Amino acid sequence: MLNEKIAALLNDQVNKELYSAYLYLDFANYFEDEGLDGFAHWYEIQAQEERDHAFMIRRYLIDSGHRVTFEAVAKPDKTFKTHLDPLTAGLEHEKYVTSLICAIYAEAFAAKDFKTMQFLDWFVKEQGEEEKNADDLIKKMKLFGSEPKGLYMLNQELAARVYNAPAQAE
Ligand code: FEO
Repeated sequence: MLNEKIAALLNDQVNKELYSAYLYLDFANYFEDEGLDGFAHWYEIQAQEERDHAFMIRRYLIDSGHRVTFEAVAKPDKTFKTHLDPLTAGLEHEKYVTSLICAIYAEAFAAKDFKTMQFLDWFVKEQGEEEKNADDLIKKMKLFGSEPKGLYMLNQELAARVYNAPAQAE
């Protein structure tokens, strides 16, 4: 069993990850409207990965002997004026999620809960990768996205993203 505070934080993180999936699907909706199907595809896969994160944490709680309870998932409420806006919002969101994961890690560290720390190691690494991916996308958009041919090529590149289930979620 985990201590109650850590279990509650992890339970809440399931909700946060499901919200992340919802948020990125909303980004995909925006890009579908804009006719950028490659960007939409990229965010659909991002949403699938967030769903995986939620499943992984739910499974960890259950395997640790905890009951998982669900709250309502918040409605994504962002509006975008430019194609860059969702990309910027995505990076900000990932930084926020990193802060949440680190806060749980800090609790686990304080409680000498080495099992949870080991479980969260994957998420700490994943957050580093997700922040880098979001930042790389912003850089590419700034470099190439302001003219039609560049935007077309970038859309093609993002359309090639392949979904891979995370090792822990398999
Ligand atoms: Fe599950 Fe993008 O953090």
